[in-house]
Amino acid sequence: MSVISIIGDDAVLTGLKLRNFKNFREAHIQLGSINVLIGANASGKSNLRDAFRFLHGIARGYSLAEIMGEKYADGGVLQWRGIRGGPREILYPGADSFMLRVTFQHEKKRKTKQEISPGVGRQNLDRLPDAVYTIEVSVSELPVIRRESLYLNHSMVFDTHPPEETVTRTDTDTVGCFLSAAPKHEHRNFSSGTPILAQLRSENGDSPFSETIQSVAEKLSSIRFFDPHPEVMRQPSFPGQTILGDRGENLSPVLQAVCADKDKRKALVEWLRELTPSDARDLDFMSDPTGKIILALVEGNNRKISAYSASDGTLRFLAVIAALMGPKPGGLLIFEEMENGLHPSRVHLLTQLLEQKTREMNLQVLATTHSPQLLRYLSGASLEHASLIYRGEDSPEGRITRLIDIPDFKTLIEDQDAGRLHESGWYEDAVFFLSEAGR
Ligand SMILES: Nc1ncnc2c1ncn2[C@@H]1O[C@H](COP(=O)(O)OP(=O)(O)OP(=O)(O)O)[C@@H](O)[C@H]1O
Ligand SMILES: [Mg+2]
Repeated sequence: MSVISIIGDDAVLTGLKLRNFKNFREAHIQLGSINVLIGANASGKSNLRDAFRFLHGIARGYSLAEIMGEKYADGGVLQWRGIRGGPREILYPGADSFMLRVTFQHEKKRKTKQEISPGVGRQNLDRLPDAVYTIEVSVSELPVIRRESLYLNHSMVFDTHPPEETVTRTDTDTVGCFLSAAPKHEHRNFSSGTPILAQLRSENGDSPFSETIQSVAEKLSSIRFFDPHPEVMRQPSFPGQTILGDRGENLSPVLQAVCADKDKRKALVEWLRELTPSDARDLDFMSDPTGKIILALVEGNNRKISAYSASDGTLRFLAVIAALMGPKPGGLLIFEEMENGLHPSRVHLLTQLLEQKTREMNLQVLATTHSPQLLRYLSGASLEHASLIYRGEDSPEGRITRLIDIPDFKTLIEDQDAGRLHESGWYEDAVFFLSEAGR
């Protein structure tokens, strides 16, 4: 049997569905290359990020309790910060379980569908796989899997509840699951406290679908989260630490790695000069007595300003560059309020940077923002995946809509830009009137 599996680089995340997760009773977001999320304070933007963190935690191999709570490594080092609010605050009011469903599609298939390119045979496209991974978690004293499944092109890879099988649940510690096997499904018991995806991945089996399991887990594991803090970025670190941390840890060695490539260094300096024309001419890296390195901005008169004295906005901008240009940047990168600390007249640099890098690489970005400028400078294609998160008047329920799906949006942006509408509160007003009209 020939199996087409989704292999890391070619697959993109095309959507996330949430049920009873935090303030989302039932919501769905469609994803493209650049996904900008706007919405009032406490509308649910960071809750959506938490859903992606939950999925990422699965790929790290943690148990459900660890994903929601915390994970410490040997020696008591904190490895994972858990989900804000922990298990007690993860459920939508009144629910006893939540569900997340994520879909993946081949980049080529998604693009071709969008462009409806005449040269590509439909049949060939349809052979490129879609994958759908679903997990439903019961949250009581100990969180357990209620349902979990992975489908590739509508064919089951594994499923605790396949439609054609009678499901018997054995006990609370284990969960039964059907695995795809010819000619009959194989039934096995798994621990109910750890996602089956992670359990199957760690087996490294040679089933026809193990490559798919690996690649789905890889995709989830490659999701990165950034909420850079200037004081963290100012810390020197040892050379070779080339993974930028969530809070901007290792900024200096990551940028040093970028600068090892002459062309990348040139591009990086050009971006930086756009931000601070009078200051930065180049970057340099200095060692401290322990061998740790710290970046320095080289100014016009050759004066070096180390990260200790660099401005917060400069460091934040450098963190975005490091995330997009650093070693192995693929996958979905999630930024919290990425315009933080940037002067409004410089925010367009972020959209330019995002659009350039997502064009050059198989990269997806999801960014929450309160910035009208960021919306204003998005290209028409990126605006297609800009979404609004909003809540009803007296309800915690978060809803998600693409801006282009709000009636009249397309007509309005013919003579007003999307940022202007944001400033005026038009998006929230429009969805409020719609929901009132729908009552
Ligand atoms: N389990 C839950 N059930 C219902 N609502 C919840 C739950 N957990 C959190 N919330 C709501 O979500 C809000 C926080 O949402 P979130 O942090 O995503 O806001 P945000 O859109 O990121 O806002 P900001 O722009 O201020 O960062 C809380 O104020 C609370 O109202
Ligand atoms: Mg937030």
